[in-house]
Amino acid sequence: MELKVYQNKNKVAEEFSKYLIEKSGTQKAFHIALSGGSTPKIVFDVLAEQFSKDIDWNSIHLYWGDERCVAPTDAESNYKMTVEHLISKVDIPEGNIHRIKGEEDPKEEAKRYGALLEEELPKALGLPQFDLVILGMGDDGHTASIFPHEINLWVSPDNCEVAIHPVSGQRRVSLTGRIINNAKTVAFLVTGESKAEKVKVIVDREEGYLEYPASHVAPKTKDLVWFLDAAAAKLLTSYRS
Ligand code: 6PG
Repeated sequence: MELKVYQNKNKVAEEFSKYLIEKSGTQKAFHIALSGGSTPKIVFDVLAEQFSKDIDWNSIHLYWGDERCVAPTDAESNYKMTVEHLISKVDIPEGNIHRIKGEEDPKEEAKRYGALLEEELPKALGLPQFDLVILGMGDDGHTASIFPHEINLWVSPDNCEVAIHPVSGQRRVSLTGRIINNAKTVAFLVTGESKAEKVKVIVDREEGYLEYPASHVAPKTKDLVWFLDAAAAKLLTSYRS
């Protein structure tokens, strides 16, 4: 695991953009699973506004790690957020965008999206392989839409599952552990003080860490990177500012 800690959110966004440019640079097709949440929002803004010309958008294929079961026009939709902060600002072909349809029946959609991954992505060890999975982490240690109360979904035999948000009851379609851990690279984008406590438990593997879905992110390639701001990293013993 690699830890990259920067002064603030903005710096995280800049450095992640450069990292993405380097990773995707030489590839004909680069398949990315995106995350929802507040950190990706600023990362998408910075990527689109400052680094757009450094990326060959024809080679970038966008997917989602999770989606809320709402219409694509709903304020809660991860797809809508990505259109506003990234897709509408860059020149990416429509055919390269593979959204989870939050407006469809969740179970059917989880099945459809799981099958789409089998068709669109190259395979490694018999499973679809993303070049990069971007993840956020909730204050409760959830990642994608696998929450602590449904941690068994992480080890699902399917590529996608239907999850339920513990507070709102909102349904979500989420990638499962077998797809996330089969990615070439997984990058966490986590910022803000409210994340510091869980970041410490998870990164430093303190007692009870396995209760948190984010602890189970361990790509078989071993290529796991945490992009943190100083606020999220402040309790880490392995990081001294
Ligand atoms: C979602 C997510 C989710 C998110 C975390 C962190 O759609 O809700 O993909 O896993 O990344 O909850 O969100 P924040 O960055 O807003 O804290």
